[in-house]
Amino acid sequence: MDLTNTIMLSDTPRGIRAAAGLLRQGGTVAFPTETVYGLGADATNDAAVARIYAAKGRPSFNPLIVHVRDLAQAEALTEMPAAARALGAAFWPGPLTLVLPRRPSSDLSELATAGLPTVAIRVPAHDLAQRLLAEFGGPVAAPSANRSGRISPTRAEHVMEGLAGRVSAVFDAGPCAVGVESTIIAFDRDTPVLLRPGGLPVEAVEAALGRGVDTSAARHITAPGQLASHYAPRALMRLDASGPEADEIWLGFGPVATLRPGLNLSPKGDLIEAAANLFAHLRAADALAAETGARRIAVAPVPRTGLGLAINDRLERAAAPRPGEFAPLL
Ligand code: TXA
Ligand code: MG
Repeated sequence: MDLTNTIMLSDTPRGIRAAAGLLRQGGTVAFPTETVYGLGADATNDAAVARIYAAKGRPSFNPLIVHVRDLAQAEALTEMPAAARALGAAFWPGPLTLVLPRRPSSDLSELATAGLPTVAIRVPAHDLAQRLLAEFGGPVAAPSANRSGRISPTRAEHVMEGLAGRVSAVFDAGPCAVGVESTIIAFDRDTPVLLRPGGLPVEAVEAALGRGVDTSAARHITAPGQLASHYAPRALMRLDASGPEADEIWLGFGPVATLRPGLNLSPKGDLIEAAANLFAHLRAADALAAETGARRIAVAPVPRTGLGLAINDRLERAAAPRPGEFAPLL
């Protein structure tokens, strides 16, 4: 498998066939989903899944999300409690991942699930992703298509910046509409538990189930030591800021003048627009910081409702102390 020569694929029947062929040979293909670009490989092939970890430079074997065409394919691979089936019926295809017991008969790679008895599974809504899954036929393991610990990609250029020469192919397709990763829900017996806030508001999950979701696992970043830094730009980050200091790039939210130098996640204060812009604006702010010699990115407060929960979660991880960095003693 030659990975040094990354092929760009276009959104055409020919491009889709070529991608499915590469997946069958054990290759890695970056493709757009409605949330972020994923780096896909055949979820039943250990060597192919190992290539995902190698390309990302993931230090440990975190379990990956397995992408399937539809609810029926998810049911063939997992045991779905009634609540899970209801959520799948309501929100798939869409930005929802369910963590479910894998069927012993499923031939999923142990590496894709990191040896766990459960599997995280989702049906992406993006049209190209759907056509690729249909052409390939089998389940596709795909984490976000970025180097480990860096900002998730919402455009093909972002994928190429991190993974050119490390993966078989990248689809040259448009920006991702949702912009933050899927919402991950697990089940404790029948109780839904939020593992990661994401592109589907937890309020929508609660409304569909007619009951509350346990958000305690995802809500608090308890101790800084437990917090793996993630989505990290090169510049430092300061959150809930009322304005930029002298050596900061401003990342605003809402109808205030965009302070210079800076950007605004959504001038009209729309959380859906802010989520779609989040990762591209973090990258742009980081580039602006490098250009101007600014030390830090100061971010305006973003409400914690709807997609704001996922936006704040990603911002907090981006602001977390990075490996090798000293935590200030206040
Ligand atoms: O929107 C998304 O979900 C994107 C697109 C490409 O689909 N994918 C994505 O994958 O964000 P990734 O690998 O970056 O995030 C997967 C998350 C990890 O936090 C992992 O720990 C969790 O899902 N996960 C996977 N399998 C799990 C399992 N069996 N139990 C608990 N958590 C699991
Ligand atoms: Mg990721």
